[in-house]
Amino acid sequence: MEYIDKIKSLFESDLKSKISKIDLKNKYLGRKGLISEAFKEIKNIPLDQKSKFGDELNILKSYLEKILLEKENFEQDGMKMDALAPINLTYLNQTSGHLSAVTQTIIKIQEILSKIGFATIIGLEKENESYNFDLLNIPKNHPARDVWDTIWIQDKDNNKNLLRTHTSPSQIRYLEKNKPPIRIIAPGKVYRYEATDSTHETCFHQIEGLVIDKKTSIATFKGVMEYLFTNLFGREMQIRLRPSYFPFTEPSFEIDILFKDKWLEICGAGMVHRQVLKNVGIEDQSHQGFAFGIGVERLVMLISGLDDIRYIHSGDLRFLYQLGKKS
Ligand code: FA5
Repeated sequence: MEYIDKIKSLFESDLKSKISKIDLKNKYLGRKGLISEAFKEIKNIPLDQKSKFGDELNILKSYLEKILLEKENFEQDGMKMDALAPINLTYLNQTSGHLSAVTQTIIKIQEILSKIGFATIIGLEKENESYNFDLLNIPKNHPARDVWDTIWIQDKDNNKNLLRTHTSPSQIRYLEKNKPPIRIIAPGKVYRYEATDSTHETCFHQIEGLVIDKKTSIATFKGVMEYLFTNLFGREMQIRLRPSYFPFTEPSFEIDILFKDKWLEICGAGMVHRQVLKNVGIEDQSHQGFAFGIGVERLVMLISGLDDIRYIHSGDLRFLYQLGKKS
């Protein structure tokens, strides 16, 4: 690592000197430049330090390229590079960015389910009472409304807008405009006005799933879940359905997966309630289907062994970097 530090300091002092841009480029980034020479040293580095050395060297290389490009742009604008503030070497500790673990998980699920015909749709984060509750068979004063503690939006027209408490309103919006057969997922953020703790956030992600067809049964549903989790975890996963209650599904279940010898709850689900289908004009009894709502942060916690959900949106780069690389 000393070697890398030496190149850094040399570059800094060269940058302040009169050395031309071309010479600077050749000296550090040329075919026989200091960076190429340093890469050749990797073979002499002890095995356990090779990868750290390689990473640091790549970071240094990107940094030098960036500074040289900035220098070029400055000079084209008629300015002098040494008019710049001193170089902030904390750049050197930065690693390249990546998608968050939540987004990576959503993309993986999208890819897996698209292979068996699921299309992805995007619902609305700002919803209204009717789509979030009424059309999903959750009438006013229904005790289930308490479960989804709601963040209401005070609009001028006062038409009871809210931040959706779950992705299930996407089911209604899609069903209103499309006829069965239907096979969709709708990932996105949801919001709940509730106290946070190690497993609860006020803003988190769900992936809604909806299938409506002629022969769709609970067995089809279980098969889809087994296929999804087996592919997501890369090994055969056992799942079980536990009885539960949601006003928009009948029967309703919680899905548990067997992970490290424990049954862990992963999503709510069920066969779509006949009333919900009627609400969107599907009276024909020959069609039926299932729906599910996966909590993405909970899934990320499970995959990465994380014990507190609040880290995920904490913005701590050291943590997010590790989590993103793991999932
Ligand atoms: C629902 O939101 C239903 N809409 C799911 C559903 C869809 C049922 C379709 C039937 C058919 P629930 O409130 O249980 O259900 O939330 C679903 C998942 O979101 C939970 O299993 C959990 O993984 C996650 N979840 C719920 N609350 C939180 C929270 N505060 N923070 C993080 N994740 C949460």
